Amino acid sequence: MDIPLKFAWTSLFYLAAGSTMGVIMLVKSTPLSPSHAHVLLIGWVSMMIFGVGYHLLPVFAGTDLFSMRLADWQFRLQNIGLIGLAFTMPYRYDDSYRLGAIMFGAVSLLAIYMFVYNVARSLIPRAEEQAES
Ligand code: HEM
Ligand code: HEM
Repeated sequence: MDIPLKFAWTSLFYLAAGSTMGVIMLVKSTPLSPSHAHVLLIGWVSMMIFGVGYHLLPVFAGTDLFSMRLADWQFRLQNIGLIGLAFTMPYRYDDSYRLGAIMFGAVSLLAIYMFVYNVARSLIPRAEEQAES
């Protein structure tokens, strides 16, 4: 499956999962608030933007995506990081989760840097293309 579609499908999954967590939080007092926030903001909002961004941003700039392989790795790491964060973010309520949250936070951050780098490199025209125009 194409990278944009992979991101779109997983973001729909996180929308359903995160909103379900929200209702659970309403019914029962749980320490899920930061996990809920990130499942929705990284999982639903950002992943949808990553997917649409990979598809549209190079089109806007009239270029191709710099690296599909890098995008695929971002997809994997972003999901590992987010699922890890979802389970460890209650560190605020139990300090034994903190190391896990730092680790998965770092993985999430690395994946975000990969997106930034990949899209930035796609938007900058290659030297030979610049010479042609
Ligand atoms: C069925 C849908 C949803 C329900 C029932 C729900 C419910 C909740 C509840 C109960 C809280 C905790 C509030 C508190 O006591 O501090 C919360 C926090 C939060 N929710 Fe949702 N939510 C839903 C959807 C969403 C969506 C779609 C987003 C974002 C795209 C979102 C983002 C957040 C954020 C960022 C917080 C943390 C706010 C803070 O820390 O002050 N929620 N939500
Ligand atoms: C590398 C990725 C990220 C990491 C490691 C991270 C980590 C954190 C941490 C540790 C907190 C404090 C939670 C607490 O009070 O216990 C927080 C809060 C928050 N973050 Fe992030 N974050 C990341 C990405 C994002 C993104 C991409 C968004 C929005 C698109 C976002 C939106 C928020 C919001 C709204 C809050 C306040 C709500 C809350 O207290 O749960 N974060 N984040």
